[in-house]
Amino acid sequence: MLKMFSAKAKSCQIASLALAMSSVLAFQAQAADAKAGQVKAGMCVTCHGALGLSTMPNAPHLAGQPAIYIEEQLKQYRSGKRANEVMAVMAKPLTDKEIENLAAWYASIPIEVGQPR
Ligand code: HEC
Repeated sequence: MLKMFSAKAKSCQIASLALAMSSVLAFQAQAADAKAGQVKAGMCVTCHGALGLSTMPNAPHLAGQPAIYIEEQLKQYRSGKRANEVMAVMAKPLTDKEIENLAAWYASIPIEVGQPR
């Protein structure tokens, strides 16, 4: 009885290990794609600039912002938690994956700062 139990426990361990490994693989496969984000960002260029330096005085720069921050803001615009008419329209059709990719793209752009003049 005890032996049967431990055999079962072992196969259970193997199964959960396999599950953990497959979720690691799935995670890797789903890693954010900055290149795809750059393509998607074509619709953001008018206001946020081709390299995330905004061309409109009322639009913030996105270059070099942490991905987690950009992702959070886009999800909040999408849900309406952060209210802005323009960004609500922009964020509405975006999927979670597209948001991750856009965030990865803007986060990947290096920025340099200097002493104030
Ligand atoms: C028509 C102009 C316009 C376009 C196009 C546009 N944005 Fe924006 N975006 C703005 C403005 C204006 C704000 C500031 C809104 C506010 O006050 O919350 C903003 C804010 C943001 C913020 C928040 C930044 C911060 O510092 O909190 C993110 C992230 C963002 N936009 C991403 C995008 C992405 C990604 C796209 C393309 C899918 C996009 N925007 C398209 C005008 C635009």
